[in-house]
Amino acid sequence: MRNDYESIRDLFAKNVVPSYGRFDLALSHGSGSYIFDVAGRRYLDLGSGIAVCCLGHAHPAITEALVEQSKKLIHVSNLYYTEPQGRLAAEIVKRTGAGKCFFANSGAEANEGLFKLARKFGHDEGRFEILTATNSFHGRTMAGIAATGQDKVKKGFEPMTPGFRHIPFNDLDAARNAISPATVAIMIEGVQGEGGVTPAMPEYLLGLRQLCDEKKMLLLMDEVQCGYFRTGKFQSFQRILENSALRIPNSEFLPDGISMAKSLGGGFPMGAFWARAPYANLLGPGTHATTFGGTPLACAVALKIFEVVECEHLAENARKLGDWLKNELERLAKTYPGVVKNARGLGFMLGFELAEKIPAFAYSDKLAAVQFTNRMQAAGVLVIPAGTQVIRLLPPLNLKPQEAREGIAMIEEVVKSLA
Ligand SMILES: Cc1ncc(COP(=O)(O)O)c(C=O)c1O
Repeated sequence: MRNDYESIRDLFAKNVVPSYGRFDLALSHGSGSYIFDVAGRRYLDLGSGIAVCCLGHAHPAITEALVEQSKKLIHVSNLYYTEPQGRLAAEIVKRTGAGKCFFANSGAEANEGLFKLARKFGHDEGRFEILTATNSFHGRTMAGIAATGQDKVKKGFEPMTPGFRHIPFNDLDAARNAISPATVAIMIEGVQGEGGVTPAMPEYLLGLRQLCDEKKMLLLMDEVQCGYFRTGKFQSFQRILENSALRIPNSEFLPDGISMAKSLGGGFPMGAFWARAPYANLLGPGTHATTFGGTPLACAVALKIFEVVECEHLAENARKLGDWLKNELERLAKTYPGVVKNARGLGFMLGFELAEKIPAFAYSDKLAAVQFTNRMQAAGVLVIPAGTQVIRLLPPLNLKPQEAREGIAMIEEVVKSLA
């Protein structure tokens, strides 16, 4: 008899577009920080579905919010008002700054909204160009791949949507020099995720803010992966700038637009963008829409997650346990320099870079990051590769100390076996 995994894989091979390079795992259910495959094998999930399942798997509060709201209203369209959408927007505004929210269904769609906001802002002056960073990732829609600063996502889909140019990340002079009369905005991630877990420097953020003010451009931040308390603060720039001696006199740093998704719905698909107050009414009636944006169901779930994160002090947990994890990864880099080159990141958005030419990886042409991830899976832990050499840890915000210790012990086992 064929096993469950093989029959599921066959279904995919016959019926699902093969656009993903999937690992040889078929998952069936989860509980907290653990997930189980169809053969019943348990894994510690340090990836949370790429920074999505912020309360882990099968959290009872999410189940309850889904059940209760689905008994009342799932969807009505944006032809009407619903209380959960209004309340959720207020929660986001309260934690970010004066402005307004638009609700969408994914990170790419949230970014599309920000691109339209920027185009609308510059339209009457003929400005439309958006600068984004090399190694950035902004989604897989046509504008998303044009915005993304990585050739691999563009290949085969040319010609690219016009109006995007890339600048080196964390290089303020390069940003200044790249501005043309058509430039209307700069978009960056607070911590580059897919590009390999690289945080923006405080002086870069503050410098971009000044530059955008000077040139009347919008500063847009993609917080899809690095936002939602992952760094220990709601938005990653709030963490990056918290201890910065550099400050803008008499004002608090705020971008003009922020995209969010992933953890906002804890696994229920949703995205959003926030636009700072002066620009919050730029997209007037009839200019932007999406059928499923901000349904009562999605918003009820998101409201419940905010409540749990707050009551259980999960931002603090991400910060404290994240610091501990990062110290441990740095220890591994010191102890096994032939395997781990360095550790980086903030809170629960962590990465470690694998050394080049790890001898055991020479026998396969798979990327080092994929081979390491495979070995972690064999050891019972899910981690996420980024690029060719980086392994990401994006655990649920409610990861427990003993789970963090278990994860590090398993990582050390695998690292040791490669040393
Ligand atoms: C920084 C960033 N922006 C945008 C996206 C796209 O989000 P989605 O896959 O929900 O469209 C991602 C997804 O990984 C991301 O990491």
